Amino acid sequence: MARVLLTGGAGYIASHTAVVLLERGHEVILLDDFSNAERDVPARLERLTGHNLPVIEADIRDSEAVSAALAAQPVAAVIHFAALKAVGESEADPLRYYDMNIIGTIRLLEAMQAGGVARIVFSSSATVYGQPDSSPIPEHAPTRVQNIYGRTKLVMEDLISDLARTGKLRAAANLRYFNPVGAHPSAMIGETPRGVPNNLMPYLTQVATGRRPCLNVFGTDYATPDGTGVRDYIHVMDLAEAHALALEHILAHDVALTVNLGTGIGISVLEMVQAFERATGRAIPLNISPRRPGDVASYYANPAMAERIFGWKARLNIEDMCRDAWRWEAAKAGINDV
Ligand SMILES: NC(=O)c1ccc[n+]([C@@H]2O[C@H](COP(=O)([O-])OP(=O)(O)OC[C@H]3O[C@@H](n4cnc5c(N)ncnc54)[C@H](O)[C@@H]3O)[C@@H](O)[C@H]2O)c1
Repeated sequence: MARVLLTGGAGYIASHTAVVLLERGHEVILLDDFSNAERDVPARLERLTGHNLPVIEADIRDSEAVSAALAAQPVAAVIHFAALKAVGESEADPLRYYDMNIIGTIRLLEAMQAGGVARIVFSSSATVYGQPDSSPIPEHAPTRVQNIYGRTKLVMEDLISDLARTGKLRAAANLRYFNPVGAHPSAMIGETPRGVPNNLMPYLTQVATGRRPCLNVFGTDYATPDGTGVRDYIHVMDLAEAHALALEHILAHDVALTVNLGTGIGISVLEMVQAFERATGRAIPLNISPRRPGDVASYYANPAMAERIFGWKARLNIEDMCRDAWRWEAAKAGINDV
């Protein structure tokens, strides 16, 4: 069992990963600057898991603070979640994204090197594939970044892969997530997007609470079975489990991996809406809108490599995703008939 530092540890995916790591007997330290996390996430995690969770409030670009944290409590590995992640924002303010994501990762890697921490799991994204030739998308598909956010993810992957290739890191796993959704079934942690959600599921749940009048469906004339865009949605608890398995793999082997994390099943917008209505009993009004520039018709993973290398396979389906996303949103909105 290992002690692990989670950068961005109070965020959406990291908080769920912390739960799984603690359940599997690991020791977890959270490092976050709380720029995009609620202050009480660590306390909620402690209530949920019954474990004490050390929290370091620091910016990953502050190498001194990160080095001090690593010196105070040496760790076997870092799982690096901290990043800015909004595509539109990245196009509006590229330098901020380069600074936070790329410079931040360099500062973190420096602090790890100084502290003798040579293993990292990294939150990458399927966005690095850009417009793929076809789906399912394997890891060897060409990378074609289409925006600044995607560029930063690819550069961060490359930095990590280079350090592994040159022996500065002993093991590394770049995990390319498809579309994480859902929440812990307890509804004690989940996703809290700021402002208007960019992604389907949080928008859907906010329509269901009445906070937004209807769901915009962008494009119904794609070459997909029902004409709406197809994506690979993955339950955040499955994603969390994948982090634990990837971590355990890189603790046991000196390897450098780049691996897709998706279900391998393409789900259309309308299929997701119908699943949500079934799982929650709430009707979702739709507003059919034109396609958005840059959107791809169909985008889903070939997840075979993760299964072959570290024995991971997504287990939860879209009903589970809808039920748990709704429980979380309803709990926040004070709705009790869930
Ligand atoms: N959610 C998705 O759809 C998705 C998809 C693919 C990849 N990813 C990647 O997964 C990672 C986690 O995403 P998430 O959805 O949990 O996001 P999130 O915003 O909920 O989590 C990121 C956390 O990092 C913290 N943070 C940001 N800048 C920091 C800094 N300079 N120093 C310390 N902490 C900082 C934030 O406060 C937040 O708690 C990100 O790297 C993101 O790019 C997310």
